[in-house]
Amino acid sequence: MVMTEIIERKKRGEELTKEEIGFFIDGYCREEIPDYQASALLMAICLKGMSERETFQLTQAMLDSGKTLDLSSIPGIKCDKHSTGGVGDKTSLALLPLVASLGVKVAKMSGRGLGFTGGTLDKLESIPGMRISLSPSEFFATVKKVGLSIVGQNEELVLADKKLYALRDVTATVDSIPLIASSIMSKKLASGSDCILLDVKYGKGAFMSTKEEAEELAKLMVKIGDYFQRDTRAEITSMNQPLGLAIGNILEVVEAVETLQGKGPQDFVDLILHSGVTMLLQADVYSDPKKARAALIRNIENGKGLEVFKRFVQAQGGDVSYLDDLAKFPTALYSYEVHSVKNGYVKSIDAMELGLISMELGAGREKKGDSIDPTAGILLSRKVGQEVHKGDVLMTLYTERADRKELVGRALNAVEVSEEEVPVPPVVEELISLTPTKEFHIEKA
Ligand code: URA
Repeated sequence: MVMTEIIERKKRGEELTKEEIGFFIDGYCREEIPDYQASALLMAICLKGMSERETFQLTQAMLDSGKTLDLSSIPGIKCDKHSTGGVGDKTSLALLPLVASLGVKVAKMSGRGLGFTGGTLDKLESIPGMRISLSPSEFFATVKKVGLSIVGQNEELVLADKKLYALRDVTATVDSIPLIASSIMSKKLASGSDCILLDVKYGKGAFMSTKEEAEELAKLMVKIGDYFQRDTRAEITSMNQPLGLAIGNILEVVEAVETLQGKGPQDFVDLILHSGVTMLLQADVYSDPKKARAALIRNIENGKGLEVFKRFVQAQGGDVSYLDDLAKFPTALYSYEVHSVKNGYVKSIDAMELGLISMELGAGREKKGDSIDPTAGILLSRKVGQEVHKGDVLMTLYTERADRKELVGRALNAVEVSEEEVPVPPVVEELISLTPTKEFHIEKA
C-alpha cells in the first residue's frame, strides 16, 4: 500500500478501506510513516470528514495500537464517565463516590489540565499525599474494596492516540468530529468498562462551541460505543458559564466535598444528580429514574457519598484529615475581590476567559509540564440569572503571585450585567442514547 495514494483518495473525499486505515495507524506507530504524511492525511480528514464505518474502523485500529484493560476480575457492572472538559468541572470528584456508594463500580483514568481547562488529576493531587499513579493490582484492589479508583492514563493504552494527538495539536487538525470521537472513544474502550457516560459540553468554555456540534460529536460517540457493544449515553451540557462556583484545584476539591455534605451550588448538584441517575440505570442498580434520584439525594443527606470519597482518598494515600476539616487546606497569599459596577442581573459569565485568568493566577498550565499552584483560582459569588447591586462582590481571585492585580479588570469584563431579569439557564440540556432498534433517543432534561 502507498501512503500518498491514501492521502490522495481522502483528499478527493473518498471512503478509505479498513486495510488503508490499519496501514496508516500501524505504519505511523511503527514510525514508518513520517509526520508530514500523517499530517497531510489528518488535514484531508478534517476537510473531507469520515463515514461512520471509517470512524469505527479508525477507533478499532487505534484500540489495537496498545494494550486494553481487562476489568473482569472486578465483580459487578463497571461504569466509566468522561467529560469533554470545561471550566470548574469537578464532577468526577463528587459524582463518582456518590454512585459508588450505591454499588456502581468505577475504574477511571483521568487527565491533567492544560490551557484554560482543569484536570481531575491535578485536583486530586491538591489533597496532600494523594497518589494518582497506582500499579494495576493496586488499582483493581481499590475498585474492589472502595468501589472507586481514579488514576492517570496508563501509558500502554492506545499508543496511536498519544502520537496522533500531539501531531494534531501542532497541525491545526484537532477540530474534526471523527478524529475527536475516535480519540476519546478508543481510550474509553481500552479502559475496559461495560458502560460509558459522556458529558459533551458546549459553549464558550468548551471544546465544541455550539450545541449542534456537541450533538453531532455525542451521537457519533454513542454509535461508536454501541458498535463495540458498550452501553454508551451522552449528556449535552452547557459551558456558557463555569460549573459551580469554584475554579482552581483546592477550591474545587472543597466545593466537591461541600456538595457531598449537601451544600453544593444548584447547577453542580443538578448535573451530578442527572449524571448519577443515568449511571445507576446503566449499571442496572435501579430501573426507575425517580428511585435512583431519591437514592442519590439520600446518600448525600446521610453522608454515604462523602464516606466513599474519604475511603477512596485514604486508599490512594491521601490525608483524609483535610476533608474532615476543610479549613486545613492552605489558602493563597493574595486575594482580590471583583466588584460589580452596576445594578442588574448577571446575563453571562465568560467561562473561557475565567479559565484563562485562573491559569494566569497559577491554577493551570500554559504548556505541558508547567507547575501549578493548588491554592490559586477563582470563587464566584454570583451566577447567571442572579441579581446584583453596584459594589457587590462578583467573584474573588486567589493567587500566590504578587503581580496579578491587573486581572481584576479582565475578570470584571468577563461578567455581563443586564438591566432586565435573566432566567437561570439549565446545565443539562439533553441525554442522547440508542433505542434497542438503534434509533437515537433524545430526552430533554
Ligand atoms: N480529547 C481527546 O481525548 N481527544 C481529542 O481529540 C479531543 C479531546
